[in-house]
Amino acid sequence: MNTLSGKHILLGVTGGIAAYKSAELVRRLREQGAEVRVVMTAAAREFITPLTLQALSGQPVHSDLLDPRAEAAMGHIELARWADVLLVAPATADFIARLVQGRADDLLAAVCLACEASLAVAPAMNRAMWQQPATQDNLETLRARRVHVLGPATGSQACGETGPGRMLEPEELARQLDGLFQGGALAGRRVLVSAGPTREAIDPVRYISNRSSGKMGYAVARAAAEAGARVTLVTGPVALALPEQVNGIQVETAEQMHAAVMEHIADTDIFIAAAAVTDYRPQSVAGQKIKKSTAGMTLALESNPDILATVAALPEPPFTLGFAAETDSLEANARNKLRAKSLDMIAANVVGPGQGFEVDDNALQVFWDGGERQLGRTRKTRLARQLVALLAERYQAKYNTDSVIKLHAKDSA
Ligand code: C5P
Repeated sequence: MNTLSGKHILLGVTGGIAAYKSAELVRRLREQGAEVRVVMTAAAREFITPLTLQALSGQPVHSDLLDPRAEAAMGHIELARWADVLLVAPATADFIARLVQGRADDLLAAVCLACEASLAVAPAMNRAMWQQPATQDNLETLRARRVHVLGPATGSQACGETGPGRMLEPEELARQLDGLFQGGALAGRRVLVSAGPTREAIDPVRYISNRSSGKMGYAVARAAAEAGARVTLVTGPVALALPEQVNGIQVETAEQMHAAVMEHIADTDIFIAAAAVTDYRPQSVAGQKIKKSTAGMTLALESNPDILATVAALPEPPFTLGFAAETDSLEANARNKLRAKSLDMIAANVVGPGQGFEVDDNALQVFWDGGERQLGRTRKTRLARQLVALLAERYQAKYNTDSVIKLHAKDSA
């Protein structure tokens, strides 16, 4: 699958002749559905104009560390947080050396230092500069720090020489970047995800529901598919497109969701219950619209099945991950649910005005028997990938499978 779609790619451009290829790279990344922002060094601006990269990325190009206007709009920390991956292409010998030193004396260096997402460099330089022990030592240091070094290619160079040091072609860089997201941590696993709210009819026009947008569940389904799982998503009514390569089953009520989950559970290795299931439903559904009355109205409710608890209580349950949306006492409530429902893991978050439901950001505290991990506030899409990486780790710990490769090592930190 194309994993670049919807990804935030921060492209750093440094001052080498290969900078002209960055324009084509931006175009290719955007063709694949990625959002691209560009940070240029002063030297890069001597080779290609910011206007070109601005036009192709559709975003203002960032260059200045100490420009108060630029910092007020999107400063180095915001840029670093925005990125799902930071690719420096071309990366000159000088920039690579500065990266090794951890400098922060221009915008791009500062963003690289502040960025917790994966970092990749595409070296581009004369072959003699590439072959220097100083450069090779620097690259070794970066690799040891889990920086992805993409290329270089060997061939004719702008300086007239032939040898290693050419920046990889934009198409190849886009392909390798895509590969960085194809982790395979859940390769071959069958994952069932419940997402969204459920709706419980009162009469033909009214229902009881909740504020769940389904964004977190959809993001988790997508992240699991990216990690190589075969994913089925049982979803309540939401306004979201089904992620690529995910088998979707639309339901409306909790009972329908329960039935759909139970139908697929025997073929499931991991069940992720992200749905906000409506806890109660009206005891009876009126056949006709209930007429308004000044006398008020009382609605008799009955409990819906607890889908997650039912799954976890099966004789041979899959690995279970539940969610706990809490307004208070996050850890105590989450740990209670972990125990009471016999789950393998629970991801807890605070909900309230502007937090948890409906919004694009979230933070999670994940608990399991004997451990916990804090996943800091970030976009739900990124958080979902961190959660899936952690889930893969815990799944491996439980079943001791060796097929789990650590995905997005930095993302899961
Ligand atoms: O007990 P509580 O509703 O807070 O538990 C939340 C977790 O249980 C979520 O993972 C949710 O998807 C799941 N759940 C369920 N069926 C219900 C209620 C909650 O699967 N009826």
